[in-house]
Amino acid sequence: MNPRKKIIAANWKMNLTSSEVQPYLETFLLEVNHIDGVDVILIPSFTSIPKASELLEKNPKVRLGAQNFSAHDKGAFTGEVSARMLRDLFVRYVLVGHSERRQHFGETDQIVHQKLRMAHRSEFRPILCVGETQEERKAGKAKQVLEHQLKTALADSSPEDFANTIIAYEPIWAIGTGCTATAEQASEMHHFIREMIKSLASKEVAAKIRLIYGGSVTPANACELLKSPDIDGALVGGASLDPRAFAEIVKAGCSAAVEVRS
Ligand code: PGA
Repeated sequence: MNPRKKIIAANWKMNLTSSEVQPYLETFLLEVNHIDGVDVILIPSFTSIPKASELLEKNPKVRLGAQNFSAHDKGAFTGEVSARMLRDLFVRYVLVGHSERRQHFGETDQIVHQKLRMAHRSEFRPILCVGETQEERKAGKAKQVLEHQLKTALADSSPEDFANTIIAYEPIWAIGTGCTATAEQASEMHHFIREMIKSLASKEVAAKIRLIYGGSVTPANACELLKSPDIDGALVGGASLDPRAFAEIVKAGCSAAVEVRS
């Protein structure tokens, strides 16, 4: 039996305003009311977090995440948001090392490592994003790239830190392109990551750690991807902006979980 609960996370990126949170949640929660057995995480922009936090306060079904935070505790870092500020709003998950942060905001492997340390120190559950570019895949270097990203990000992590981390495999060529990895391609990479965790941490941690897939997940392809026992969930960008589409993906996660368990 697969002991890992599926995670379905919505990464809104720089979309949807604070006033759009309530109508979104009303529609979404109505759709997923009867659903159980899946961890649903909503990751809005910073300005939408307070509203989402207020509306979800009494709803254990949906947890809140942030798209980023500072590697520093506090102080003279104009424009930054700290882990402590987010904890205050009941945010418990954080994306670390999303490829858009690496590409557009100069986040190096070293910064990703520091943010991961901050997440563990502040008792957040980090969703560590890793993935290769199209060129790297074509050159046969995809696994090498993942290995490097994982080793640098997770350096000095304790067994508890490993077990607390969620890893999102997000091939850059699949993000926002409509070009999803096939279930076989994603499973192969997830299997590779799990083997790496075995050698970096232990067999027990590798069996427990959750590895989710991101990159053009939609209601149309979610079932196929989530059916794979190696894929413990999805990180959804574009399709999560529509509450009904996101609810469909949550439902796919739920039926896949039942199938994988039986
Ligand atoms: P996408 O984004 O679903 O729009 O491809 C996924 C992500 O970047 O997390």
